[in-house]
Amino acid sequence: MTLREPGPKGLILAATPSATPPEHVAIIMDGNGRWATNRGWPRLVGHRKGAERVKEIVRCAPDLGIRWLTIYAFSTENWKRSTEEVLGLMGLFSRYIEREADRLSAEGVRMRFIGDRTRLDAKLQRLMASIEARTEGNTRINLTVAINYGGRNELARAARILAQRVADGTMSPDAVNETTLAAALDTGGLPDPDLVIRTSGETRVSNFLPWQAAYAEYEFTPTLWPDFSPQELADILARFGGRDRRFGGAVAL
Ligand code: IPE
Ligand code: IPE
Ligand code: MG
Repeated sequence: MTLREPGPKGLILAATPSATPPEHVAIIMDGNGRWATNRGWPRLVGHRKGAERVKEIVRCAPDLGIRWLTIYAFSTENWKRSTEEVLGLMGLFSRYIEREADRLSAEGVRMRFIGDRTRLDAKLQRLMASIEARTEGNTRINLTVAINYGGRNELARAARILAQRVADGTMSPDAVNETTLAAALDTGGLPDPDLVIRTSGETRVSNFLPWQAAYAEYEFTPTLWPDFSPQELADILARFGGRDRRFGGAVAL
């Protein structure tokens, strides 16, 4: 049975009591550039609009049963873009943290970042560390933002951490296994995503969470990220409820 009832803020929340809702949703927020270009505007306008969407989705996520939300904001490959776009995006990340810090803390959001921070500017790194520390005690929702994140880069860095321990003699080569490797990733200690959503119609994963999403379900929507609404998220979650996640087992009869 599917219950459909108006939720807070007028959203139609779809709940399937028999199915497990996705606790951890990861989103590849794509299509900002095209959204702006379609209107004859600079790409950065699309990124600004995209940041507004992030606020809205973070706000509605707990009401939809999401406890973990991981969003892809900047990939290790995105440095290939123009200096203007890269600097514009970095400025947007800093402003988002500065302007949203009070609200995020007050609304129970625990914020974390994944990705290689060492290449980011010092001010942004400080802001990231400070909001992580400030929201450490929050438990309503876990928001993880991937900045300068690439799955291959993350795996290589984790391998280096383990290799260093073996070289130091603090770890035996036999102790390198799925558990110790997972713990050495940026996401060490976080649950794997149940559902990965990509907007903008592209049906690729673009180096996002290749290890962690090994058994995730995927949803691809043609909607460009600045047009992605809480209602569309609710609809996707309702569809997810109907999926049979077998994890390699046999179909349950
Ligand atoms: C996603 O939107 C945001 C980032 C990658 C930073 P894009 O900027 O990739 O938008 P499109 O794909 O060019 O439309
Ligand atoms: C993926 O989008 C990265 C983010 C959403 C941050 P891209 O637009 O960079 O991916 P490709 O280039 O289409 O694969
Ligand atoms: Mg894109």
